[in-house]
Amino acid sequence: MPAALRIEDVGQTFNTRNGPFVALRDIHLTVQPGEFISLIGHSGCGKSTLLNLVAGLTRPTEGVLLCAEREITGPGPDRAVVFQNHSLLPWLTCYENVLLAVDRVFASRESRDQRRERVLAALALVGLTHAQAKLPREISGGMKQRVGIARALATEPQVLLMDEPFGALDALTRAHLQDELLRIVAQTRCTTLMVTHDVDEAVLLSDRVVMLSNGPAATIGEILDVPLARPRSRLGLSEDPVYQACRAAVVDFLHRRHTHPAALVPA
Ligand SMILES: Nc1ncnc2c1ncn2[C@@H]1O[C@H](COP(=O)(O)OP(=O)(O)OP(=O)(O)O)[C@@H](O)[C@H]1O
Ligand SMILES: [Mg+2]
Repeated sequence: MPAALRIEDVGQTFNTRNGPFVALRDIHLTVQPGEFISLIGHSGCGKSTLLNLVAGLTRPTEGVLLCAEREITGPGPDRAVVFQNHSLLPWLTCYENVLLAVDRVFASRESRDQRRERVLAALALVGLTHAQAKLPREISGGMKQRVGIARALATEPQVLLMDEPFGALDALTRAHLQDELLRIVAQTRCTTLMVTHDVDEAVLLSDRVVMLSNGPAATIGEILDVPLARPRSRLGLSEDPVYQACRAAVVDFLHRRHTHPAALVPA
């Protein structure tokens, strides 16, 4: 089976008023179908920059990115993005927000009834069947994020990209949505690349945690395998020695990079 994502030798330099700024360099990563990958690193290290490259919202200044072995040259229906601040259209209901995305991808191929089924299935997947007729301003922040996830999954992307999807939520809602996401990825087996600041979230959800060094010129410092069996449950895991070891490894990486930002080799 071809790799879901292949990032080869990627670098990103921005032209700024003060001259060129090297945000990322020498990024290599291959993601297999169905894998869940978290990208973690200090603020400003380049996580969103990398996610935007995979989304095709920007082009790399060096290297190449491939989705299912096809070069990424712009946004496409094979990749769906969920941002930190849900980007729902305020004048459309939850149902209509999801339908908009479904129509964009399937209008030419599927009947109105089939598209309606897709929207309803996606809303059911995130537990929002009851809120389908509500406007974004009539639902909570957590519910809006769930609509964003439904909208992304409804188009059956090969890769789900999420940039701190739960970053703006309170701790309880966040934990609840992490549990839902665990269930959803188990059900859909969608390949996922998620940016997060949260060590527990990264370890709980991921097959691998990709740790970026501090910028400028950030690169992948370490990749941690999370060898925890699935299905996973938050309650059982907190006492698990494997979970604790993974958590400690990520915390240690982030701490070392924070105290020695210039250090690119492990201490
Ligand atoms: N369009 C741009 N032009 C110039 N510099 C940019 C641009 N976009 C990002 N940068 C710089 O690239 C670096 C990485 O930014 P990025 O937004 O990817 O960080 P991040 O890891 O997502 O941070 P955070 O965790 O705070 O969201 C930062 O130093 C930022 O200032
Ligand atoms: Mg960011």
